Amino acid sequence: MNTVKTVRELRAAVARARSEGKRIAFVPTMGNLHSGHVALVTKASQRADFVVASVFVNPLQFGAGEDLDKYPRTLAADQEKLLQAGCHLLFAPTVEEMYPDGMAGQTRVSVPQLSEGLCGASRPGHFEGVATVVSKLFNMVQPDLAIFGEKDFQQLAVIRALVHDLNMPIQIIGEPTVRAADGLALSSRNGFLNEEQRAVAPVVYRTLNAISEAIKLGERDFPALIGMQRQQLEAAGLRPDYLEIRHALSLRPATAQDRDLVILVAAFLGTTRLIDNLHLNLDAPI
Ligand code: PAF
Repeated sequence: MNTVKTVRELRAAVARARSEGKRIAFVPTMGNLHSGHVALVTKASQRADFVVASVFVNPLQFGAGEDLDKYPRTLAADQEKLLQAGCHLLFAPTVEEMYPDGMAGQTRVSVPQLSEGLCGASRPGHFEGVATVVSKLFNMVQPDLAIFGEKDFQQLAVIRALVHDLNMPIQIIGEPTVRAADGLALSSRNGFLNEEQRAVAPVVYRTLNAISEAIKLGERDFPALIGMQRQQLEAAGLRPDYLEIRHALSLRPATAQDRDLVILVAAFLGTTRLIDNLHLNLDAPI
């Protein structure tokens, strides 16, 4: 696996692969890779001949007071994991390489509606930062397909929309969330949890399952259901940011008639913000 740091080297390496007739897959990341990322790269290597990954902690998607500075940077360990997972090329640019003219005047990509609410409400500008960097990375790599984790459900919806709306010829693939044995969704931010918090954290996934089971049993009073489960999170010591039931495709608030649902949660455990979701399609075969 080759690691390159400049757009020029990246383009040259991808052009070589392309001239050999290879199908290109791309897995963008912010590094500090765990088994969830490895699953994305493994999927990429099954779907394409040449796998490109990126590691870039994108300042544009962090708000003031968020964890940009303390976000873990572990490039050597990431390189090892990417190599093992079948990655051919790693793009690990500096902030200056990605934003050579600074960020203030950077052209932005914004995806209205889908970016509003949920994480967009508590992290203003976050999805604009994500959509902008992903668009730039897509233009640099020009992959045939790109793979993202379903754990960031709203992010995945935003990226699908931007590719559709900007006519980018890139297939977007969502991969199921990888979980620890106790159900906690793997995340680079889990490393911020102390032992006591880590023991409490699986309540997030249990809450999603409790809501899902209640809906499957016919519960349609969503506000009451959410209110009760919010209390469970609070009783366990979490501070919920949101806990919502939405329509899985449009992400608008779900109605009792909707069949394709997603239950989404963000909650603080100490200063760590955990997010998770559960997709529930009531029409899917059991
Ligand atoms: O999900 C992430 O790790 C980031 O938001 C992404 C898609 C790599 C953009 O910086």
